[in-house]
Amino acid sequence: MDNTLYTFLALADAVIITDANHRILAVNQMYETITGYSSDTIIGKKAGILRTPYTPQETFISLKEALASGLAWSGVLTNYKRNHELWHSSITITPFLIEGTMYFVGVFRELEQLERGQYLDEHRVEQIQGSLLKVLAISSEIRDPGIESHLASVQQLTGLLVTRHNERIGIDLDVEAQSHIAHSSILHDIGKSAIPEGILYKPGPLADYERTIIEMHARIGVDIVDKIFRELDDGLVEIELSTAKNIILHHHEKWDGTGYPHRLQGEAIPLEARIVSIVDVFDALISKRPYKEKWSTDRAIDYLVEQKGKHFDSDIVDSFLSLYQDGMIMS
Ligand SMILES: [Fe+2]
Ligand SMILES: [Fe+2]
Repeated sequence: MDNTLYTFLALADAVIITDANHRILAVNQMYETITGYSSDTIIGKKAGILRTPYTPQETFISLKEALASGLAWSGVLTNYKRNHELWHSSITITPFLIEGTMYFVGVFRELEQLERGQYLDEHRVEQIQGSLLKVLAISSEIRDPGIESHLASVQQLTGLLVTRHNERIGIDLDVEAQSHIAHSSILHDIGKSAIPEGILYKPGPLADYERTIIEMHARIGVDIVDKIFRELDDGLVEIELSTAKNIILHHHEKWDGTGYPHRLQGEAIPLEARIVSIVDVFDALISKRPYKEKWSTDRAIDYLVEQKGKHFDSDIVDSFLSLYQDGMIMS
């Protein structure tokens, strides 16, 4: 690398220098501190490795166009730090042609240092997403007075169970994926909004045709979220969409293949749906419903154990039991 470029590394802002193909040639101390990458781990890599799906496509297009015509470019990028946290920054990239070789010098200014109100931090985005999903879920089942507490318990227990199962079995889910599952679990019965009240809350036994109609809530739910997310057209929420759809469609599948709607068996059932099904059944058992009394926690736990390998994934039931033994499952 040309010596004159090293001067830029002395700036107080994070600085990155790449070759014409965006391969990293040097970064400065501030860059290392902010991103968590040390020079020797990142030099030689493509600058795009930090990329997240959150930076709009148009940003990259205008960036490419400017640099291709030898112009400097400024814009906002959302990158990943090494620990996978998001890093929102305003960056200026300037091309330098030195002795026939092209270099790009990028100088970052962290958005955290700018005035508040110019961007949404990650925590706030997560909060908004959470409330949005909650309002959505509650309003679809507004006719059921007990639903709010059921949904809150399902979400809370799903969060605990995902984390515990991940620790116990090592399924390698990152924190983000875990929170997507917990967030999305609240939507599991969103399809019930399309089921007639007389059938849904019927106190007595159901006729076959009534059962068939109720079972439609899994498929209908997927259509509903598809429609909502198409309206939203928002990449931030979209990431949770496939997790949510798996939960909505498959939360009534059973490990032995006797569930619905697709009679999936074993690990063919998405993990998130296997987790939510245990939590959903457990909370339903320990709650009073029009057609049943409330069960004691011990009795509900016995039921989960009895259904290992039948209704439920045995390993996940074991994770649930370990939470119970630690006193983390209250009725
Ligand atoms: Fe359901
Ligand atoms: Fe439920």
